[in-house]
This record gives sequence, structure tokens and C-alpha cells, in this order.
Amino acid sequence: MEYTTLLFIHVTSVILLLGVGGGSAFYKFMSDRSKNVEVIVHTNKLVVLADWLFTTPSVLLQPISGFMLMNLMGYSLDSSWLYISVMLYIFSTLLWLVAVYLQIRMKNIALLAQKEKRALDEVYFRLVNYWIGLGVFSALAMGGIFYLMVFKI
Ligand code: HEM
Repeated sequence: MEYTTLLFIHVTSVILLLGVGGGSAFYKFMSDRSKNVEVIVHTNKLVVLADWLFTTPSVLLQPISGFMLMNLMGYSLDSSWLYISVMLYIFSTLLWLVAVYLQIRMKNIALLAQKEKRALDEVYFRLVNYWIGLGVFSALAMGGIFYLMVFKI
């Protein structure tokens, strides 16, 4: 595959990853703040669905297209910008996997509260806080990778 096609795939999957991730985080954050169980259940279902439909494929496409670009351009992990980027990517993918697990747990807790017609308890909101923390560190790592990919320093 030629350079521009690969770069197009690589950058498109970045847009999908950061766009869907950021959007999902914003809507979930706002719906959790509403404390409205119906709204929270609906948003949690959509966030989990968006992860399977959009984030998972782009999380896989990102390193695949990245390593193909590396081969094509003759780069190696001896370049510090690439080495640090790959380490940050592994770190943020691990955080993302934990966040996915928390999202599924939050969805199930909210569904139970909806079924039992009661408000969400502090267990749910504790998970929300962990999820926000993971999101902040993951976004910082992604921001760092973006910087390194563009400036290559
Ligand atoms: C294991 C993961 C990754 C690897 C191995 C990788 C590798 C690469 C390579 C080799 C290039 C081509 C550089 C050039 O044209 O000289 C590139 C471009 C780029 N990458 Fe990645 N990448 C990875 C993940 C990411 C992530 C997570 C982001 C965003 C947060 C990202 C954003 C970009 C951007 C914006 C470009 C275009 C830079 C430019 O054309 O100046 N990459 N990547």
C-alpha cells in the first residue's frame, strides 16, 4: 500500500478514535451529572455500543497502520518519538480496557436501578469517578502521542 493511502487510514482512524472517545465521554459525563436513571441507562447503552462499533476497530487500526507506515518509511523504534509513542499507546490502551470494563459495569448497575425503580447509589458514582480519572490520563497520553507524531522529536 502506498504512503498517502496508509497515512490517510492512520489519520482517519485517529479522528474516529479521539472523536468518538471524546464525544462519548462528554455525553456520559453530562448524563451522569443529571442523576436521571432513564437518561443514564440510555447513554450508558450507547457509550458501550459506540465502543464496539467505532473505538475498538480504530484502536486496532491505529497500531496496524502505524507499524505499516514505520516499515514503509524505514523508521525503527530507535527513534525516541516512535518508541515513546508506542509506550504511551500501550499505556492508554490498557487504561481504555479498564474503562470499557467499568462502562459495562456502570451500564449493568444502572439497568438494575431502573428495573428496581430506585436512584443510583454511591457505588455507581464511585465507578464514574474512576472512569473520569482513567479518561483524563488516557487523553493526556493521546495528546502526547499526537504531539510526537506531528513534531517527531
Ligand atoms: C502504535 C501506534 C502508532 C504507531 C506505530 C504510529 C506510527 C506512525 C508513523 C510511522 C507515521 C508516519 C510519519 C511520517 O509520515 O513520517 C505516523 C503518522 C501520524 N500519526 Fe501515528 N502511530 C501510532 C499511533 C498514533 C496515534 C495514537 C495518534 C494520535 C493520537 C497518531 C497520530 C499520527 C498523525 C497525526 C500522523 C501524521 C503526522 C504527519 O504526517 O506529520 N498516531 N504514525
